[in-house]
Amino acid sequence: MKTIDELLQDGVEGKRVFVRADLNVPLNGTTITDDGRIRAVAPTIAKLAEAGAKVIVASHLGRPKGAPDPQFSLAPAATRLGEILGKPVTFATDTVGDSAKATVAALANGEVTLLENLRFNAGETSKDDAERGAFADQLAALADIYVGDGFGAVHRKHASVFDLPARLPHAAGDLIATEVGVLKKLTEDVARPYVVVLGGAKVSDKLGVIDNLLEKADRILIGGGMSYTFLKAKGHEVGISLLQEDQIPVCLEYLARAEKRGVEFVLPVDVLVSADFPDLKTKAPANPELVASDAIPADKEGLDIGPKTRELYASKLADAGTVFWNGPMGVFEHPDYANGTKAVAQGLLDSDAFTVVGGGDSAAAVRLLGFDENAFGHISTGGGASLEYLEGKTLPGLAALED
Ligand code: 3PG
Repeated sequence: MKTIDELLQDGVEGKRVFVRADLNVPLNGTTITDDGRIRAVAPTIAKLAEAGAKVIVASHLGRPKGAPDPQFSLAPAATRLGEILGKPVTFATDTVGDSAKATVAALANGEVTLLENLRFNAGETSKDDAERGAFADQLAALADIYVGDGFGAVHRKHASVFDLPARLPHAAGDLIATEVGVLKKLTEDVARPYVVVLGGAKVSDKLGVIDNLLEKADRILIGGGMSYTFLKAKGHEVGISLLQEDQIPVCLEYLARAEKRGVEFVLPVDVLVSADFPDLKTKAPANPELVASDAIPADKEGLDIGPKTRELYASKLADAGTVFWNGPMGVFEHPDYANGTKAVAQGLLDSDAFTVVGGGDSAAAVRLLGFDENAFGHISTGGGASLEYLEGKTLPGLAALED
């Protein structure tokens, strides 16, 4: 992979450089609630602009259906990027139309523009190679050079991620280089014990990574919505908790394999439950009930790990050499259910391990709960991307930058 520094040595002054970023940030209306992904890619953009490039930044936001949808506009990200860079960032109100063409044509050396959401064009995410290719051709016409730095989207075979780099001289941005460097470390020589903490809603999203990590990790700690399918697989009733019944056989297979390989597979021993999902807007007190994880009442839903599990997980993290964490332990957005996720974050900080927080959600949780992000070894900007990397999959956006 060519690096940005190699690209700068070739000279980028006056060149139109297309930077595929991942500015898929959480929004409340038009307010960005966590700008981590914008801050993470800003150094690459600044480097190119300082070297005199005309920088065209592009990204997706959310999952619009291939047509303009104002709630997914990237306009707030342009403003925030400008604040971070300390210079104005112009905004094109389309991706390859008149606004984009005019905005790019108006760029002077060292200036930066952001295009509107790439997913407002159906060609971006199309499964049809020709349709994606046609959109990539239009994007290619806007630029002279491609820089891939949207790590969070490299697992997507999308036009701007996969097809566009084939059409332009290309390089990897500094964010991608850092992310890949860290994740590579986790697949090679890791300091042991290697502890993996997985949470989040769906067990099906994490099956590939568990499959792979069962061969590498020493301990796997499970929390969040996905833990209830494992608890059910072990024969416990889980009330109205999140459950993926069809995944039970796979969970059983993993539990058996963990035992055979001597991997500690740790499930919650107690959970906070309620008959009602908490109100995340008003954050009104939810008054959860604490129960053992094998005694969840039929009409209640598990919403966070309990205090015994917090202690147990902290003890399993204390002597770790390496930790990879992806996915919250509960509904951390509500204060009554944030303690499990907080305890895991604190457990990472209290250990001397090399700690990697993988994932948009876990990364945002760490910041929203008030932890100092610099205290962690690495906070990845990619959720699905980091999981798929650890699964050993070929990621289209990285493969496209290789040659
Ligand atoms: C993410 O948030 O994981 C990335 O931005 C990719 O988004 P996607 O899952 O909508 O493709």
